[in-house]
Amino acid sequence: MPKTKVTVPEIIQKKQRGEKITMLTAYDFPMASILSKAGIDMLLVGDSAGMVVAGAPNSLSVTMEQMLYHTWAVSNAQPASLIVGDMPFMSYQLSPQQAAENAGRFVSEGHAESVKLEGGAEFVKEIEAIVKCGVPVMGHLGLTPQSIHKFGGFKVQGRDEEAARKLVEDAVAIEQAGAFSIVLEAVPADVAKKITESLAIPTIGIGAGPHCDGQVLVTLDLLGMFERFVPKFVKRYAHLAPLVEEAVKAYIEEVKSGAFPAKEHVYK
Ligand code: KIV
Repeated sequence: MPKTKVTVPEIIQKKQRGEKITMLTAYDFPMASILSKAGIDMLLVGDSAGMVVAGAPNSLSVTMEQMLYHTWAVSNAQPASLIVGDMPFMSYQLSPQQAAENAGRFVSEGHAESVKLEGGAEFVKEIEAIVKCGVPVMGHLGLTPQSIHKFGGFKVQGRDEEAARKLVEDAVAIEQAGAFSIVLEAVPADVAKKITESLAIPTIGIGAGPHCDGQVLVTLDLLGMFERFVPKFVKRYAHLAPLVEEAVKAYIEEVKSGAFPAKEHVYK
């Protein structure tokens, strides 16, 4: 369990020491408090919030204002974990200046300590502009959900030789641009291995097999709180949705019967 604040240099050193890195998503104060207390290295305030918190079919309608609110809520937990703010669709794609301005808002308004953005070599200039402002950047390759319409849906990426080679090239370009780590989403394990071995910065996998330097999951998937669908790469470490339902049913029963509130819940 990290007792002191996890920093970007420490995340990179973990790879050098061969120590696995852990990351989970958080969107609010209570979950960020629990995850930090449990000892998670990084909290990703993911734009997956649009899907798992707001119920949207994808993350494309998530706005800067929504992401800043979630990041601010997470930061109020004062987690020991490093806070990574996820840049939403169209908040960095237009120009290096737009990317730097919005990354700056994540830090100054959301109190993030780094940002994540999706895409490969085509975003080198945007990554450089953000890093130049002193904001650490996490890359994201493979199944980048902001590009689902280009991919034709949520599909595994890098399956043929040409696509795998492009992923390795993109990863190297992002590292050279100054990124401190890269998320690899839904890529074959052998491709993730090749990328991981090609880089000095850590790879954090989600559906990318065991050879990545670290792993990330959407916390509500891990806890069995999101019931709409369960991707193949998710392991449920708990199934809390039925427990929540049971607790709420018990509350309804007790309100109806008059058992709640009891004497100890009443002000004299
Ligand atoms: O938004 C998110 O939660 C993510 C993870 C799935 C990596 O980008």
